[in-house]
Amino acid sequence: MDDAAKRVMGLRLPSDPYWARLALQSPQEILTDHAWLEQKAASSCISLIVNYSDRQQLVEVLAPIVSEEWGHFRMVLHELWKRGLKLGRPRKDEYVNGLMAWVRKQQGRDIQLLDRLILGALIEARSCERFRLLHEKVADRDLARFYYDLMISEARHYRTFLDLAKMFFPEDQVEQRWKEGLAYEAELLKRMEQRLDRMHDGLA
Ligand SMILES: [Fe+2]
Ligand SMILES: [Fe+2]
Repeated sequence: MDDAAKRVMGLRLPSDPYWARLALQSPQEILTDHAWLEQKAASSCISLIVNYSDRQQLVEVLAPIVSEEWGHFRMVLHELWKRGLKLGRPRKDEYVNGLMAWVRKQQGRDIQLLDRLILGALIEARSCERFRLLHEKVADRDLARFYYDLMISEARHYRTFLDLAKMFFPEDQVEQRWKEGLAYEAELLKRMEQRLDRMHDGLA
């Protein structure tokens, strides 16, 4: 990731390119983990729509992203199947669960919305960064294109989540919570176990 991209997304802890090189040695593991990551992205947009159906703009913006994330899930399925690999079972996601613990659940529905939108932007930013590494390291040209396209989509989603947050909350409140989220995410990754079979692990 170049400096400009890093500044745009603000991630505090750059991932080690070594992770991508090793992760690519186990296509079954990394593609299975990736497929479920896309499923969770679609599910969390659905959950936001269900919980905040009174916010018309949120529904309008997130409804097409549900389709897009589900399309990503299907793209990963295609990559698995064309290699004779299977989807496999979903795994416990320490990264997403760790981030969910940061949401202030006792402070009312609006604060929860702010935190969930920031969390969405964080996950998209980290996914974008990791897809970029995979794109740079993978030898298979089709897979390189696949990761490149995903990197572009997730960068756009990162922006969408932050823009949505700024639609509903004052800009300085969003900026403050975004900074707190970035710091929390970096600490979470430092605490996590280093794993090569996960899209998001502690090897950063
Ligand atoms: Fe996606
Ligand atoms: Fe996304």
